[in-house]
Amino acid sequence: MSCIDLKHISLEPKQIVKDVYWVGVNDCVKDLFESLWPIPSGISYNAYVVEGSEGAAVIDGVDRHLTYEYIEKIREVVGDLDRVKYVVINHLEPDHHASTPALLSLARNARIVISPVGAKIIQSLYQVPRDRIVEVLDGGVLNLGGKTLKFIFTPWIHWPETMMTYLEEEGVLFSCDAFGSYGALAGGIFDDEVDLEYYLEEARRYFSNIVLKYSRNVSEAISKIEKLGLKISVIAPSHGPIYRRHIDKIFSLYRDLYQPKLRVKASIIYGSMYGRTEEIVERVAEALRKKDVTVELIDAARVHPSYVLHYVVDSGAIVFIYPTYDAAVFPPVLDIANYLHIKQVGRGRVAAVLNTSSWGPAIREIVDLLNKSGFQVLDAVSIKAIPTPEDEKRIEELIEKLAMELKKLT
Ligand code: FEO
Repeated sequence: MSCIDLKHISLEPKQIVKDVYWVGVNDCVKDLFESLWPIPSGISYNAYVVEGSEGAAVIDGVDRHLTYEYIEKIREVVGDLDRVKYVVINHLEPDHHASTPALLSLARNARIVISPVGAKIIQSLYQVPRDRIVEVLDGGVLNLGGKTLKFIFTPWIHWPETMMTYLEEEGVLFSCDAFGSYGALAGGIFDDEVDLEYYLEEARRYFSNIVLKYSRNVSEAISKIEKLGLKISVIAPSHGPIYRRHIDKIFSLYRDLYQPKLRVKASIIYGSMYGRTEEIVERVAEALRKKDVTVELIDAARVHPSYVLHYVVDSGAIVFIYPTYDAAVFPPVLDIANYLHIKQVGRGRVAAVLNTSSWGPAIREIVDLLNKSGFQVLDAVSIKAIPTPEDEKRIEELIEKLAMELKKLT
């Protein structure tokens, strides 16, 4: 179902456990998350209200254009906005908190709860009065009257100030970006109400686009949560479904992502202007398949980098095959190499480069990026568009090296 189809589905505030409500919104307006990543089925910004006997806390918020809907949902739950004592900021990025200044202006008793790092950077994003900011410590707690919020610092998931909030009495972990997924919420808000396989796949793409660079921090955060021995009955992320029946599935997905078991798989990222380079791509692919390597072909001009990152997460090898273009690397291929560099995808993987040209090689720029990404670059050769016998030999050598290195992964 496309996000446009969802527009008429009104999701009211929903109770997720006793005294805890979802007050999130679906965003069916944006086509690109962060103006980078396609969201054909939209995205949800999940926010929550925790009701204690001494007042309410709002956990996180939404993007600016959905502020009105979010505040009306909070009002529906708490009645009078003056009952809101705290607005917990797990992560400052505007998809979660562009709504917060407006909420603070209406909820006159509310104070922001944030990590010290967050308190240092909040004014660079939002103008909020300093006397309405409460800094909390890692492991610190806040009592709402029968409801205890515990704060767990999880830096770099996905900014330096990030933390999670744990509701002790009900075992709810508000995890913010961690365990989040693309896709507006269709049909319900819980994992057992939606097409979970779809959201898990989109959680995988979300991870590879947003959090992949911080895999080590994710691993540390999950170890920390496990060591704390929290009794988690619900994981309530800031995007996508809330997990209450299949917590094991989202944990298991994350373990596979932050510590991927690399497969004997080569992703061939290629460009071809007139079909000749594509013929070489097909020959390389066939030769690798004969050596029992799984091959994935990615036409860089037609597959968005968001999906490329998603596909290559478990690839042991990445091969770039492309023509020279204006004395440079074919631009869509270079674009993807740049994304792999930004996301630091190379660690533990091997790469190879095969450039075709009639009048001049274009290799150095891409090899520099791959080295900086952490790849072990096995080979980087430039050959003629119609390969000479020497070129054929180079192609053979490249295939041999790739297959040999990939076999070492098993
Ligand atoms: Fe969902 Fe890092 O923002």
